[in-house]
Amino acid sequence: MEVYEAIRSNRSIRRFTGDPVTRDDIEHIAHAGRLSGSAKNKQPWQFILVTQRDTLQALSAGGPWCAHLAGAAFAVVMVVEDLHTPRTLTTPFDLGRASQNMILAAWERGIASCMATIYEPDTVRDILNIPAGMDIPWAISFGYPHPDVDPRTRPPRAGGRLALDQVIHWETW
Ligand SMILES: Cc1cc2nc3c(=O)[nH]c(=O)nc-3n(C[C@H](O)[C@H](O)[C@H](O)COP(=O)(O)O)c2cc1C
Repeated sequence: MEVYEAIRSNRSIRRFTGDPVTRDDIEHIAHAGRLSGSAKNKQPWQFILVTQRDTLQALSAGGPWCAHLAGAAFAVVMVVEDLHTPRTLTTPFDLGRASQNMILAAWERGIASCMATIYEPDTVRDILNIPAGMDIPWAISFGYPHPDVDPRTRPPRAGGRLALDQVIHWETW
């Protein structure tokens, strides 16, 4: 899949087939995260890879819109130090960039995903034994898309993107 086609066709998927993702694919996706560029090359991330069903189910209590984690083949939980301390937004940008690289590398292999914003970090901290002082801003569910929601074979869902002329300004505002 070409990069542009992966960007164009990727949608958030919250229902998965239940088929496992191989360890090779999981590590390939994790490599896509760790290979990402970051401000000052700080690589501020740690990725917790979760495949155990009972742990995934427990993680779905991490926030009001985290339910899809329970049915994922695996999840990547993003962990970072000093997310809020720097005066710039480079650390959240770095995490987003690594996340999107993992999402696209997965999608190239037909593995769909969905973000899960963590509103209850201490719940996740307890489940995964994450040290105090580390931030846990979000996790990402990964798995093979259920056929009913597979964007490669289903008609486009509502909630598409703004048209180009709604978001671009040539030369000046
Ligand atoms: C920063 C961020 C946080 C998100 N958090 C959640 C979430 O907690 N739960 C969820 O189901 N989807 C979450 N999403 C997915 C968005 O709802 C989704 O990308 C958006 O509605 C557009 O849908 P699409 O990706 O299918 O085009 C998040 C997406 C982003 C970029």
